[in-house]
Amino acid sequence: MSRISVMQPWLGEEEVEAVAEVLRSGWVAQGPRVAEFERRFAESQQAAHAVATSSCTTALHLALVVAGIRPGDDVVVPSFSFVATANAAVYVGARPVFADVSPITGNLTPETVRAALTPATSAVVLVDQGGVPADLDAIREVCDPLGIVVIEDAACAAGSTYRGRPVGAGAEIAAWSFHPRKILTTGEGGMLTTSRADWAARARRLREHAMSVSAADRHASLVSPPESYDEVGFNFRMTDMQAAVGIVQLSRLPEVVDRRRELAAVYAKAVAEIDGLRAVTDPAWGTGNFQSFWIEVCPGPGVSTSSTTGASAGFEVGRGTGVSTGSTTGASAGFEVGRGTGVSTGSTTGASAGFDVGRGTGVSTGSTTGASAGFEVGRGTGVSTGSTTGETAGFEVCRGTGVSTSSITGVSAGFEVCRGTGVSTRSSTVSAGGGPAYGMDREGLLGALAEAGISARRGIMAAHRQPAYVSSGVSLPVTEHLTDNTLILPLFHQMSDSEQARVVEVLRQGRR
Ligand SMILES: Cc1ncc(COP(=O)(O)O)c(C=O)c1O
Repeated sequence: MSRISVMQPWLGEEEVEAVAEVLRSGWVAQGPRVAEFERRFAESQQAAHAVATSSCTTALHLALVVAGIRPGDDVVVPSFSFVATANAAVYVGARPVFADVSPITGNLTPETVRAALTPATSAVVLVDQGGVPADLDAIREVCDPLGIVVIEDAACAAGSTYRGRPVGAGAEIAAWSFHPRKILTTGEGGMLTTSRADWAARARRLREHAMSVSAADRHASLVSPPESYDEVGFNFRMTDMQAAVGIVQLSRLPEVVDRRRELAAVYAKAVAEIDGLRAVTDPAWGTGNFQSFWIEVCPGPGVSTSSTTGASAGFEVGRGTGVSTGSTTGASAGFEVGRGTGVSTGSTTGASAGFDVGRGTGVSTGSTTGASAGFEVGRGTGVSTGSTTGETAGFEVCRGTGVSTSSITGVSAGFEVCRGTGVSTRSSTVSAGGGPAYGMDREGLLGALAEAGISARRGIMAAHRQPAYVSSGVSLPVTEHLTDNTLILPLFHQMSDSEQARVVEVLRQGRR
């Protein structure tokens, strides 16, 4: 049985030849190929300026410097990201402030950003996690009036689109990664794009020791003009060998994205038919490149017992244990997702459920007669308008469509989050027993995949749980839930249909 890896870069003879040409030319450091790669990347991303760097991490670092972020500032970042996002804030002496994310997209939302703002916030780093475009305009609506810079960490998002344009096109400043885990690779490498000529010029200097005249320009002229060093710079340069690979890779990007989306669609269809699994999807405002195809595993037994007339919905998502007891007439549902504590205390007549997930505030104020719960998670709008007697909770999380029609008396909410079927219109008093959870938890599924020779990965990390950041003491329930219950399935350009069928078969076998 051949092994299926989670990701493989797609490199070929063209890249080999491009590097060989650079070697033959004798110019291997940052030079003409880097300049050409920058031009082409800016054009393809509809960015005004592009500055190549040694990695996305160094591009983020430069972005924060040129945006004027300094010691004493707070920078809002998602914890649900590779740790480099938060590290970049520390490099400039600022404090990363972790915000929670949408359970649907895994990205920051206006509500989670708002909840994390402090008087010292000077920047927000918005990540397009796994290639899923974040809602940049909605975040800028919050930040622009406050003079807070939004930096897009588009490390994973080359080839994704946002409101009909390439991701990053509408950003004041964005950072990109070309690590081999990404769909466009230069071995190691990164890019900073920006709409501001002054920021681009300063980043260009800073990445090269803050030299006033670049090494390439000095070496190109017979009489080298004297250069000066007006501030303390860095060596964040990309080499011409890397850029030569990047130029070839960039030309392949549309084809790579098409194939990835084709494979993702096959996974999505299969997952939709399996109770207890939910797959990442495109948000309403754009299309992803499916750099990572993640699924959420809902392992709870899915049992809602007894005499509730509402729903004990969302909290089951949060805990994943799936047991709701007692005599509530509504639901204290989604907010428990937010809190992740998994306790539904009875006798409320409704619930101000899901919106708390969206906002991540974790407060359920009881005694409302109903809640338009989970759907607000999906939309991330954070408003719960009561007066329904039950909830249209979890399922709407899944669909992210955000419509709550009132007067439903009960909901089979939380587990519907997992199913992703998106319709819960019943007027019954909550479902009892047998919620459609998956047959095993995330670790079990990873084990089953490994046994079948398939390499998958635990979901995206939660930086705030790492020793480096644990002292922040923050609790981010949605991030923690996603980190604990998601996994990344194999998806790469060369993946064959039969390889993918093997993965799907293991997913199906894990059903209860
Ligand atoms: C969201 C995000 N930001 C930053 C980085 C760092 O990228 P690089 O390895 O190019 O520095 C990564 C890498 O995985 C990432 O996923």
